[in-house]
Amino acid sequence: MATTETDQATFGGTVEATVEAQVETVERNPEGYLGFKLGEFEFSRDDYFVYISWPTGSHVMSADTFLKALQRDVAWEFFYGIVNFDGVIGTVNHYGDVDLFAGRYNDGWRKAELDHLENFPTAHIKATFEAMLDDWTNEGFDPFASPDETGTAFGPKNGSNKAAITRHRVTAQRMVGVPGDEGLRSDETGHTVNRHFLDVPQDEPEIHAEQGFEGDVAAFNLFAYLSRSDVTWNPSVVAACKDSLACPTTEEYILPIIHGNDRVEWFVQLSDKIIWDVEDRDTGTVRAKVVMKAGDVCAMPADIRHQGYSPKRSMLLVWENADSELPALISSGKLPTYPVDL
Ligand SMILES: [Fe+2]
Repeated sequence: MATTETDQATFGGTVEATVEAQVETVERNPEGYLGFKLGEFEFSRDDYFVYISWPTGSHVMSADTFLKALQRDVAWEFFYGIVNFDGVIGTVNHYGDVDLFAGRYNDGWRKAELDHLENFPTAHIKATFEAMLDDWTNEGFDPFASPDETGTAFGPKNGSNKAAITRHRVTAQRMVGVPGDEGLRSDETGHTVNRHFLDVPQDEPEIHAEQGFEGDVAAFNLFAYLSRSDVTWNPSVVAACKDSLACPTTEEYILPIIHGNDRVEWFVQLSDKIIWDVEDRDTGTVRAKVVMKAGDVCAMPADIRHQGYSPKRSMLLVWENADSELPALISSGKLPTYPVDL
C-alpha cells in the first residue's frame, strides 16, 4: 500500500511530512493474521499474543493490551513525548518523525545492551500502525472501550471493526459548542449517557449574548458532555486558548499506555478516583503512587512516566501546554521539569 499524506498533528503543532508511506506486510499465518515489518522490527500476532522482534531481542505482549496501546498511539498522532506500550516497547514523538524503540527506556535492557531504536517519518510509522490495528482488531472488539463494554480481542482472525478504530477525534479550535466548531454530544449523535454516569444532570446553561456577539459567546455542560463519552483514556481537546488545551477524558480500568512526559501535565480529578503509578521516565524506577479523588489537582513533572487505574468510570481533566518549544527548553535545563516552586 502506498499513500502520500500530509498529517495534521492532533497535539504539538502541524507535522509537514509528505512521504511515501510503504507498509510492508508478511503473508497471513495459520491464525489468519498478517505480519508486519517496520525497519528491522517485525510484528506478528496469534490467538492470544503479539510478538515483536528486532536484531538484538524479542518481546511478547497480550493481544488486547497491545491493540489498546496501538489504538491510542495512532489516534493521538503519537501524542506528547513517549507512548510506552509496556516497560519495553514504545514510541517517541519528535513531531514530524517518530522513534520506535525496544528496551530503550528500561534499565535492564539498556545495561544488557539489547535495546533497539529506529526513527521513521510520521506518515510511514502511522500507516504501518493503522494497517496493523485494522488487520488485528476483530469484529466485536473495541480497543477504546472499557473491558465491560466490549467483546474479546482474542482468537483467530474474525472480521474487523473499522468504525471503532477510526472514530472522529475531538479537537476543538476554540471550544465545543461554538458555531462551526466541535458539536455537543446527544442521544441523536449516538452518544448515550454511560451506565456509570446516569446521575449526571443533563441540563445546559442558558446563554444571553449581547446583540452582535451571538457567535462569540458559548457555554456547555462539561459534566453532561463527558457523561456521554463512548471511549476511555482518550483526552479530547474541548477548549483551546493559544497553546493552552483543555483535554478532559473519561477513564475506566487501566490506562493502556504508560505515558512518558516531555512537558508538565496538569490533572484535575473531576469525579471518582484514579490511582497513578509514577516512574522515572528513562529507567522505570518507581517514583510515586498518587491517589486522586474528586477535586484533587496534581501536576505530572516532565521527567516521569505514569499509568492510571480507575476502579469505575471517572472524569479527568488533562491540561496540556502545546508550546512546541517546551521539550527542548526542558531537556536543555532552561526550564525546570516541575511546574511551580512552593
Ligand atoms: Fe501524561
